[in-house]
Formats: sequence, structure tokens, C-alpha cells
Amino acid sequence: MCGIIGYTGKKNCVPFLMEGLKRLEYRGYDSAGVSILQAGQIVTVRSVGKVEELEKAVLQANPQGMTGMGHTRWATHGKPSEENSHPHTDCTGDLVVVHNGIIENYLSLREKLESYGHKFSSETDTEVIAHLIEENLLHVRAADDEERLIKAISKTNSSLSGAFAYYVMWARTPYLLAGTKIQNPMVVGLGKDENYLASDVPAFLAHTNKVLFVEDGEIAVIKSSGAKILNANGSVQKRKAVKIDWDQKTAEKGGYRHFLLKEIYDQPQALEDTLRTARMDFSKVLGLDTAAIRKLRTVHIIACGSAYHAALVGKYYLEQLAGIVANVDLASEYKYRALVPVKDALAIAVSQSGETADTLGAVQKAKEAGFRTLAICNVRGSSLTRLCDGVFYTHCGPEISVASTKTFTSQITALYAMAMFLGQANGNISKAVFEKSYKELLMLPKAMNEAVKLEYEVRHLTRKIYKADRFIFLGRHVNFPIALEGALKLKEVSYKSAEGFAAGEIKHGPISVIDKGTPVFMLMPADGLFDKMVSACQECRARGAFVVAITTKAGVKPLKNFVDKIIIVPKTSDLLQPVLDIVPLQFLAYWIAKRLGCDIDHPRHLAKSVTVE
Ligand code: G6P
Repeated sequence: MCGIIGYTGKKNCVPFLMEGLKRLEYRGYDSAGVSILQAGQIVTVRSVGKVEELEKAVLQANPQGMTGMGHTRWATHGKPSEENSHPHTDCTGDLVVVHNGIIENYLSLREKLESYGHKFSSETDTEVIAHLIEENLLHVRAADDEERLIKAISKTNSSLSGAFAYYVMWARTPYLLAGTKIQNPMVVGLGKDENYLASDVPAFLAHTNKVLFVEDGEIAVIKSSGAKILNANGSVQKRKAVKIDWDQKTAEKGGYRHFLLKEIYDQPQALEDTLRTARMDFSKVLGLDTAAIRKLRTVHIIACGSAYHAALVGKYYLEQLAGIVANVDLASEYKYRALVPVKDALAIAVSQSGETADTLGAVQKAKEAGFRTLAICNVRGSSLTRLCDGVFYTHCGPEISVASTKTFTSQITALYAMAMFLGQANGNISKAVFEKSYKELLMLPKAMNEAVKLEYEVRHLTRKIYKADRFIFLGRHVNFPIALEGALKLKEVSYKSAEGFAAGEIKHGPISVIDKGTPVFMLMPADGLFDKMVSACQECRARGAFVVAITTKAGVKPLKNFVDKIIIVPKTSDLLQPVLDIVPLQFLAYWIAKRLGCDIDHPRHLAKSVTVE
């Protein structure tokens, strides 16, 4: 969704804002803007397009000031245009707002405010916030302007419905920025003689890794001298600063042309870092003792996008290793199911960002139905981690590319570790099987190191096929979700039509789309289902498909006459094989998008973190 950033300190804030907006650009990139407090007056520069367009406009206008804020937009209300770009102002022009999220009741608020004489200049829901604060400033009583502003923000929050985070800058309190949130991300960064507000830590990570997390309904006030967090009544809340263990290097491209490519190569390290905690005591994480774990009969896994595909792999793990029936749902669907309240049940939410609105809504629903909840998440302190009863962190560092790669493979390993633990605790697997599975898990980073060497081969292959109109991905069992994820990666970054199917299903319909030359990717490690996959290869080839087999070494010989191209991935256990099988498909998506000249790190219409329903 949108990215928002703010600064107050002793330096000119413009370079910081521009740098931060570029780092937040993965959250939205159809227009951008900044407001700076310059000599007691608010100067605003906005432009349509990416942050680099704004940069040109800023260079020309050359605003300077020590307090300022910025926004990069992913349009919800109103088309991308200069008028609809943030920051938005009140009638006086002395107060500006940047906002991420949706104000659901903005139409009725706007009508009311217009009847009081407020003049609107955009189609956005955001503008009502600026006018509502302006209105409330007239009616609240306070000792000084700072208190007045806080009270007006608090009063405004009580009229807004929806999920949002917004910052306010007011010419009468030029030394401070205030920010508030409901179900949308906002973090405070603590610097030396300067402090920051942002949607996400990477925005200011080059300056500090010390952060304060803000809870829903609270108001953060930052000044150059410090930061404080207030509740809705204006009382100061105690909050401990948290040190984020991400470094700036992991949030940069590090010599790679795109974040997507860099993050594919980050995978061995991300797995290693995630696995370091894989043997943790899950009963503590889950808050369940062995007796309670033995009683666990139902697990619901909820997620969106790539995380949903990781969850689908997790279902096989829970069933096979833990003997627990697992139900996997898209979070956006789960929210509207008739959930039967259950006892002894666990809901696992898988999410990179921990801020996906659909996933948060689904967890809320599971909680209401009596589920214990666990988050598998990459972002410390995110809304999901605060909502769930327990958290298992993937340690991937910041993932900037909109298309997920390293968090996807780490999520799968996290689900595996958890299933292994549950299986041992409830007696479904023996100690020996547990130890064997654990050993295999620990070998994964090394195998991943080999898997990422496939880039050259895949790159070469894409030269032949990148112009095809349609791509098909097939897999079975744990590799079926990988077929879905392979198709999603390609769609996301190259805009090609791509579909993933369970290989056994093609004869029931999907085979009709296969035509002469259609590239079909077969995920077929040499496992128990290999022969079935060979049949699928033959069926596709008989219809003229260009068949690419992604297999392990033992699959090469038997496949020779049945496919057009073989890509050999390193071997691990059958259950963990998907973690490696996805790698050539990640490269495939990257190289097809690259050959087609797509904007790989900023795919059209997408945002990394979807914080609206
Ligand atoms: C967005 C992103 C996807 C991501 C999904 C879930 O749609 O574009 O890449 O998989 O959200 O995000 P989460 O942060 O919950 O894993």
C-alpha cells in the first residue's frame, strides 16, 4: 500500500525524505509528494509517477526545512493525479496530512465537513482527515498548541472508521510531527538529535535501528529532542525501544540490478538464519504444554499470495509429520466462512509483513472462534505478531522486492520445523525420525547454495521461450503449491498469463489450453510420484508442449526422451524438495520479465504489503 515517512531534527530533512521514499517505494509507486516546514510555512511538492519524478520536481522547487514528511501512493480513492497525491491540506494550508490505508466513512464525513464550509480539492479519503483535524482544532480546549493538536487528532480518530496510519504537520507546532494508527503499520525511529516516523523500518535503517512500536489508537509525537507515545487521552505511555537486528546492507541491492535477483541469492543465508531458531521450544512459542499439544486435532493455516502457497506446503507437513488434519485458507475467504467454534485448535497465520489486512482480519476471526493463534512472520513488532498468541520469526532480513522469494522458502522451512516438533511432541514420529528430519533441515542452506547456481542455465532457456503467450506449471503433492507459486512469480513480474495446476488434474480440463510450443514446467523430483509425472509429460508433449522438467539427478536418465529440457536441482528429502524446486522458477520469472523490459521491482498494479481489505 502507500508508504509514509516523517522527520524532525536539526538538519534539512529533504535528502532524508527522498531517500526514505525510495526505500518505501515498494509499497506503492503511482504518485508521490513531500511537505516541508520552511520558515514557518508549509511548502508542498507533489508529482505523478515514481519517486524519481518527485525528485526532479523537488530539485526545482528546492524546499528546505527541519521538519517534513512524504508519501508514495498506491491509489485507492481517486486516480493517480497531482491533486490526489499526498500530502493533503486543510482549508488554511497550515496543516498537512499523509496517510496510508482507507477511511471507510469518508463520504459521510466529507458531506458533513462540506456543510460546515470546508472546501475539498481531491477525490481522496485522506483529505477528510486534514479538514476534520482543522475542524476539531477549533473546538478542543488546551493549554498550548501542542496539546491542542494532540486533542484534535484524538478526537478525529474517534470519528474515523477503517484501517489507517497518518502523520500530521502543523505550522503552529513547527518543531514536531505527530502520527497515529489503527491496524496499519507505523514505527518510530530514534536517532541522535533527530527522530523519524515511517511505515516500515527499512525507510530509516541507514540512520538508526532503534525503534518504538506504536499500538492502535496511540499518538506518537516526535521532536528533535525525543519521541513520546501518548494514548487517546493524552497520557504518556511507557515504551521500551527495540533494537532491530537488520542491517542496512540487507536492505540494499548490494551490486545486483534488482532486489528480486538479490533476494533470490539471499536465500541460503535467510534459510540459515531462520533455521538457527528452528529447534526452539515450540511449546513455549505456542503457549501449549505437551498434554495440550497431544490434544491438538485441528490446525487452520491462513495466508495470502506467496505465503498462502507456503501454507499449502505446510499442510502436507502437518499431516505427514504431526498427524494433524490441516485446513489451508486464503485469508480473504476465511473471514467470510461460517467458522464452527472449536476447542483444542490452532490457527497459524503466515505472512512476510505481518500487516496484510486480510490476514489480520482472518486471525481476528479465528480468535473469536476460540483458536489459539500463531504467527509465522518476518517483521518484528508487526501487527500480526502483536495480535497472535505466539510468534515464530523467519529471519530473512527486509524483503523489498514486491514478489516474495526468500521469505517464501523460509516460511516453508518454518512450517516444517513446527510440524516436526508437533509430531515429536504428540508421538506421531519417533525420536529417530525427528532427528533425521532435523538433520535434513539443517542441510538445506548448503543445498540452496547449489540451487542458486542455476541462474545461468535458466537465463539461457528464457531466451528461447520468453515470447510465449502462456506458461503452464505442473506438480504433485508438495510440489503442487510450487507449481502455483511458479505461476504467480511469473505473472507478478512479467504480466504473462501463467497457471499452475496439480499435474493429475490437467486431464480434467486444463490440458485444453496447451498448444504447439506452450512452455510447460514439470516439477518432478525423482520421488514416489515421478512415474506419474512422466505420464503428464507425455500427455503434454503429445499436444505439442515445450516441456521443461525440473528434477533431481536420478530423474535425468529416465526423462531423456520425454522432455525438451531438463533442469537439475540439488536433492534433499522428498518433503523438503519444494524449497529447492522453486529456485529455477524464481530465476525464470526474473529473466522473462527482464527480457520483456518489465519494471521488475515495481510490477504494475501491485504493492508489497496490502494493508486494505
Ligand atoms: C501482496 C504481495 C505478495 C504477498 C502478499 C501477502 O499481495 O504482493 O507478494 O505474497 O501480499 O503478503 P504477506 O506480507 O502477508 O506475506
